[in-house]
Amino acid sequence: MLRFSSISLLALSCVALFATRVLADELEDVAGDITPPSAEPLIGSASQMAPQQLVLSNYKTEAFLLSVAVGLVVSYFYGSRKNKELAAAWEKPISDVLRANFSLVGDGRQVFEWDSAADVLFYASGRRHCKFAQGHVVLRARQDAVALINDLAANTQEKVEIEVTLNETESSGFVFAAVPRKRSKALGRDRYDIATFTKVVSNEKVSPKVAIFSENADATTQLLDSGLGDILASEASLLEELHVTDGPSEKPESHDFKCDKKLMAVIRLPAATTEGLAQFKETLEFVFYLVDYISEAIVLRPESTRKLAKAREEAFKEFTRMAEQEKQDALAKTLAEKRRIELEGVDKMSPEQRRKWEEKDRKKQLKKEQSKRVRRVR
Ligand SMILES: *[C@@H]1O[C@H](CO)[C@@H](O)[C@H](O)[C@H]1NC(C)=O
Ligand SMILES: *[C@@H]1O[C@H](CO)[C@@H](O)[C@H](O)[C@H]1NC(C)=O
Repeated sequence: MLRFSSISLLALSCVALFATRVLADELEDVAGDITPPSAEPLIGSASQMAPQQLVLSNYKTEAFLLSVAVGLVVSYFYGSRKNKELAAAWEKPISDVLRANFSLVGDGRQVFEWDSAADVLFYASGRRHCKFAQGHVVLRARQDAVALINDLAANTQEKVEIEVTLNETESSGFVFAAVPRKRSKALGRDRYDIATFTKVVSNEKVSPKVAIFSENADATTQLLDSGLGDILASEASLLEELHVTDGPSEKPESHDFKCDKKLMAVIRLPAATTEGLAQFKETLEFVFYLVDYISEAIVLRPESTRKLAKAREEAFKEFTRMAEQEKQDALAKTLAEKRRIELEGVDKMSPEQRRKWEEKDRKKQLKKEQSKRVRRVR
């Protein structure tokens, strides 16, 4: 988003800069022509040149650049207003559903928070089976002519993204995703949890345009039985993507990574007609229904639970090793520090005391060596 606005800003600055340059050049020409060419009488020359220079057609470039700049400014105000109207239309169903489900919506008064002229954020907390939910309404960049052309060319969808952070303890941890088939390659490449734990499976029930990433057949079957299967079977459905995960979206860099259980959904925004709004509301309600369904209705077989745990153990093996190594390094450091302090004390001893200490220390080291050797033999 920011990138597109900056491209437009850059374009606008270039136009302005270029216009100033052209204007300056032409004014210079006019000024240059006014200065008398040597012997010619001054008055006659100036009165000959002036009308010719001020003809409007000589300012074609400026006129063009000025209209581009004005166009960009007008489209900014027009586009921003259009997006405000659209957001107001979508705010109603979103806040209705949030208020019916959460005790705290937005900051208590306002539901939507503008992030840019084409992005709106919302937040809610206080609901069973989850910690909080956050959402993002992504509209077309109508305020930004360059970005809008880009949006239209790429045929980007206006959509609402919702991410619900589930209660850790109340649901099984598994990974699942349903996405448009054309997005499946990118998803399998970009998301660590999907790439690590799932495989694309075929399911004759869902639309052929949808790719299903499944980790565990037991979990996937139960999830699709929630009504999700029917929604994914219909090509008219607004539910564009759905992910359930208990893993990190990116490969962790250290062993103390945190991963929440999450339910994420992308809902396509149809035209804001009465039917469109109603269909959208129904889809959003279904997403929150899934929060309850995942926590209450999905009960995995013991062997499925074991398999899921094993897959996580296997995937996070290197992090377990990292944690172990870190612990050992810390221990070695403490021991070295202890030894340093001990040797410092020895420096202050009398020769007799030192001899005794060295004797004792030699025995201690010997014992340590022996116990190490015994351990190795075993
Ligand atoms: C969520 O909202 C829907 C209506 O939008 C309602 O039927 C449902 O009971 C609500 N769920 C909870 C847990 O409040
Ligand atoms: C999560 O569920 C547990 C067990 O039902 C409950 O004690 C805890 O308060 C819940 N946490 C949140 C954040 O709702």
